[in-house]
Amino acid sequence: MSPRSSIVFHVNSRRFQVSGRDCLRTLAEFLRREHGLTGTKVVCAEGDCGACTVLCASIHQAVGGRLRYQAVNSCILPLYVLDACHVITVEGLQDGAALHPVQTALVENFAAQCGYCTPGFACAMTALAEEARREGRTAVSEKKARNELTGNLCRCTGYDSILKAAQTVRLDPTRGLAERYHNTERIREFTELSARSVAIESGGVAVFLPASLEKALELRKRLPGLKVVGGATDLGVLVNKGLESPVAILSLQHVAQLRLVRRDGGWAEVGAGVTLSALQPFAEEQAPELGRLLNVFASPQIKNRATMVGNVVNASPVGDLIPFLLVSDADLTLKSADAERAVPLDGFYRGYKRTDLRPEELATAIRFRLPSAGSLTRLYKASRRKDLDISAVAFAARLELEGRVIRSARVAFAGVAPTVVRLKELEEEWTGAEFSRALFELSARRLTSLVSPISDVRGSREFRLKLCRNFLLKFHDDVRAEVAP
Ligand SMILES: Cc1cc2nc3c(=O)[nH]c(=O)nc-3n(C[C@H](O)[C@H](O)[C@H](O)COP(=O)(O)OP(=O)(O)OC[C@H]3O[C@@H](n4cnc5c(N)ncnc54)[C@H](O)[C@@H]3O)c2cc1C
Ligand code: FES
Ligand code: FES
Repeated sequence: MSPRSSIVFHVNSRRFQVSGRDCLRTLAEFLRREHGLTGTKVVCAEGDCGACTVLCASIHQAVGGRLRYQAVNSCILPLYVLDACHVITVEGLQDGAALHPVQTALVENFAAQCGYCTPGFACAMTALAEEARREGRTAVSEKKARNELTGNLCRCTGYDSILKAAQTVRLDPTRGLAERYHNTERIREFTELSARSVAIESGGVAVFLPASLEKALELRKRLPGLKVVGGATDLGVLVNKGLESPVAILSLQHVAQLRLVRRDGGWAEVGAGVTLSALQPFAEEQAPELGRLLNVFASPQIKNRATMVGNVVNASPVGDLIPFLLVSDADLTLKSADAERAVPLDGFYRGYKRTDLRPEELATAIRFRLPSAGSLTRLYKASRRKDLDISAVAFAARLELEGRVIRSARVAFAGVAPTVVRLKELEEEWTGAEFSRALFELSARRLTSLVSPISDVRGSREFRLKLCRNFLLKFHDDVRAEVAP
């Protein structure tokens, strides 16, 4: 099958076909400037405020033959990632003359002041309502609303009425977006499209969406300069800030082999195409501490796109998932057209934002050890704000004990060095020692010789050191009750 030379997506049921340089435009710009869909607002342009939230359903996340609409930030989404997706904007929520139940609830609860954030809230809340309906719930709980609206800011602080609105939405069990917009012809078209690779080489850009891993690896070999794209959440921000402007793209969204998440004995394997939202239920069941951490990772809008592999390869010194993966003995599967290697994550980072990934390779999956019965794992994150914020310091530790004696120890910190680090000296000192507060207090005092955080907008060196010390002691105090007396 010859590759396609354009991408296709639908917006509020209208079909669009885009090629050339236009594929690099953001969805927000496309909606507002090209099509007058100005209900979608842009404020921060970096995924942080939710004003640009729209609903997006990818053919790859369809459930039972129905598209599943999730909230995403249109300001950081390049159009090429929307191939075979249906987007619903705030203009598409209304059903004929009737407001969507979410819009009615917002009106009835006086949940808008200046109204600039309101379309974003309406879309995020609709995603929440769609999920509640899918799960057979009749209402959205306050807890759920608080957790799931973290990606939306209201600067007029109308939160009380917004939260009330979320809880009073009258969910119609038979007529949600999934039913209203269900169209077998669309599903058929998207299914066919996603099975056929895209190769756009016109207008000074090259955009490839291979339909198989083999094709992706061939491209990586032939054109090693292509920018690999997972969820585009890191990349989208860099592009908007003018820090990167890739015009040669390899997007992995149609590679089914990369969307695998599975348990293999005591190990988990997460493919490069698995979004953090898709990972969350697995994590909650198999690695509850990771599940808990994902609750304070970014926002639903970001997690609906971001991947674990993207977090790892991005190599940020404050990547939140990396400390957990380091204490879980993770390794990355790196594939090229001619070879495959498993690289321990502890050794993958070569310096600030530098990794061992070769130009011809793709990271296809990450494997990590699941917590065994009796092992003690904790993950902590300190940021200026609980939700949707970058860590000042993140911490992970995992101990295995025999009675009160530590048999194996892993400790990792983010935010204290140019890369996330494992404290191997500390791990050695702990191994064979008796679990005691005195041991952890001694380690906390020694930390200044083991880590060297810098001062920046997220915290001073002294503040970060204090956080590190407190995390060590907190870890001891949190797990103490689980250790034999
Ligand atoms: C508003 C906002 C909030 C955020 N909050 C957090 C947070 O709380 N904690 C946190 O740690 N991060 C956070 N991030 C950062 C980001 O969302 C994560 O790092 C995310 O996991 C990146 O995944 P992605 O798939 O979107 O990566 P992408 O943006 O697609 O890619 C990131 C990098 O990895 C490379 N890459 C991706 N996949 C592959 C692959 N398979 N093979 C080779 N290279 C690859 C890309 O070339 C690129 O250099 C946030 C970002 C935003 C915009
Ligand atoms: S404009 Fe703020 S998240 Fe997109
Ligand atoms: S109503 Fe004004 S910012 Fe939310």
